[in-house]
Amino acid sequence: MLISIVQTGRLSLVFFSCRSCKEETTMPGLLLGDVFPNFEADTTIGRIKFHDFLGSSWGVLFSHPKDFTPVCTTELACAAKVSDEFKKRGVKMIALSIDSVEDHHNWSKDVMAVSSSTAKTLPFPIIADHNRALSIELGMLDPDERDSDGLPLTARCVFVIGPDKKMKLSILYPATTGRNFDELLRAIDSLQLTAQKKVATPVDWKLGDKVMVIPSLSDAEAAALFPNGVTTKEVPSGKNYLRYTQP
Ligand code: BEZ
Repeated sequence: MLISIVQTGRLSLVFFSCRSCKEETTMPGLLLGDVFPNFEADTTIGRIKFHDFLGSSWGVLFSHPKDFTPVCTTELACAAKVSDEFKKRGVKMIALSIDSVEDHHNWSKDVMAVSSSTAKTLPFPIIADHNRALSIELGMLDPDERDSDGLPLTARCVFVIGPDKKMKLSILYPATTGRNFDELLRAIDSLQLTAQKKVATPVDWKLGDKVMVIPSLSDAEAAALFPNGVTTKEVPSGKNYLRYTQP
């Protein structure tokens, strides 16, 4: 039995690699606002230090349970197709899967064969994590999803990192549920807008739609901040908290 104990910020991750004993893994220790670890890793574009890779850009890191698996392949194919949309928003993309760089290169060929991307090769790197060290450090192992040896696979994590290297958004999906990259772009539009202006985006908001004035602003402050005006929707409570503006 192999036991690894890894300290990540506020959490200890305990990792037992024996199927017959009581196994336990702990999900994420990274919280919104934490500085994202400046890990070093081998990738399909060579060895990187994560903060250097990001430079002054936004970043999105999305993890995959395993190479050559069906749902992951559809996700990477879609990510390749919409990569220009991430680029337009100044967001550097990077994937991670618990296999080797060589596997990633071979898998990328399958991905591009099924993607409707116009690119010839995968337009973003994939991090190699065949010994799961980074998946453990970043708290990405899903205790409920195992490979054929009984070892935990990574969940489908999405981490959006701001230019200040702090985590701005974190979403976790189990291996059996593929992600929606249009939703990631929509959320990034909201993160980038709300990083600049004192607004919040309502349900199903899309770029160009009206936004909401945040509750901590007084009506007078809102009037001064939003030259396009503020409209308030009346509600039975009489409380004027549904305040919209065009950013
Ligand atoms: C998939 O990508 O299809 C997959 C990977 C691990 C578990 C279940 C599905």
